[in-house]
Amino acid sequence: MCGIGTTLVEALHAGRRAVGVEYEPHWVDVARANLALARDAGVRHEGHVFHGDARQIASLLPSEYVGQAALVVTSPPYGPSTHGQVSAVPGVGVQKYHHLYGNTLDRGNLANIGHHRLLAGFTRILAGLNTYLRPGGHIAITIRPWREHAELIDLPSQILACGLHAGLIPVERCVALLARAAETDLIARGSFFQRDFIRKQREARLPLHLIAHEDVLVFRTALRRSAGSGISTDRRDSRRFLTDRARHTGNPKEHSGVPESWAA
Ligand SMILES: C[S@@+](CC[C@H](N)C(=O)[O-])C[C@H]1O[C@@H](n2cnc3c(N)ncnc32)[C@H](O)[C@@H]1O
Repeated sequence: MCGIGTTLVEALHAGRRAVGVEYEPHWVDVARANLALARDAGVRHEGHVFHGDARQIASLLPSEYVGQAALVVTSPPYGPSTHGQVSAVPGVGVQKYHHLYGNTLDRGNLANIGHHRLLAGFTRILAGLNTYLRPGGHIAITIRPWREHAELIDLPSQILACGLHAGLIPVERCVALLARAAETDLIARGSFFQRDFIRKQREARLPLHLIAHEDVLVFRTALRRSAGSGISTDRRDSRRFLTDRARHTGNPKEHSGVPESWAA
């Protein structure tokens, strides 16, 4: 899910080796071209992009990567459309282009399979990644809450549940503001269409706000099992994370769509 390889390039510049998986052949080509540019710029670390469906990660990556990765950084698609570009043509109006991940009929792309299958597919990807991480290695996921019609879909909380189902241990949940730092202020970076949508909803007396952040969820893999108790120290950490969150929201049941069995 490395898209055009932005994260891979940054990893190389940070002195790491980097491996990406991407489903759309066009983005694979762009990501490989970006890695080639980084090499031309003098970066000497290894970077590779594998083409295929990340749900089948075990059949895509060589076995020597098992247990090697210190960090996975990823981001699931939020429905079929991405940020894209906008053009304003007199007489035609404002139009979007380059805003789709690929062919919307292609079910291999998680963007096109509907909300519940996206969650099932992403859980499978996280479980597969577990194998490639070192003990105590981390996964950082950026996810945006989004709206379907006017209803807010709390995708970050659902992805938290996916990580738990995949056997990962939650470490942190942070907010990353999508804003530009101007001289004295933060300027939200909402697209034309997001702003237009909010304006129309407010005109219809629905007091919606522009979504101006993504959640960043950080998980890690297990370190070890504690001798004797039969309960891993990692499992206790998971419980502590969820209990703290429940305390924070003031409602022990309100830990974000995570099934009860995980909170027990
Ligand atoms: C939110 S974007 C991540 C973009 C990336 N961070 C970048 O800077 O370009 C999600 C990416 O997941 C890819 N994707 C969707 N389904 C996939 C699958 N089954 N296997 C691998 N990649 C997939 C999409 O094509 C898209 O590039």
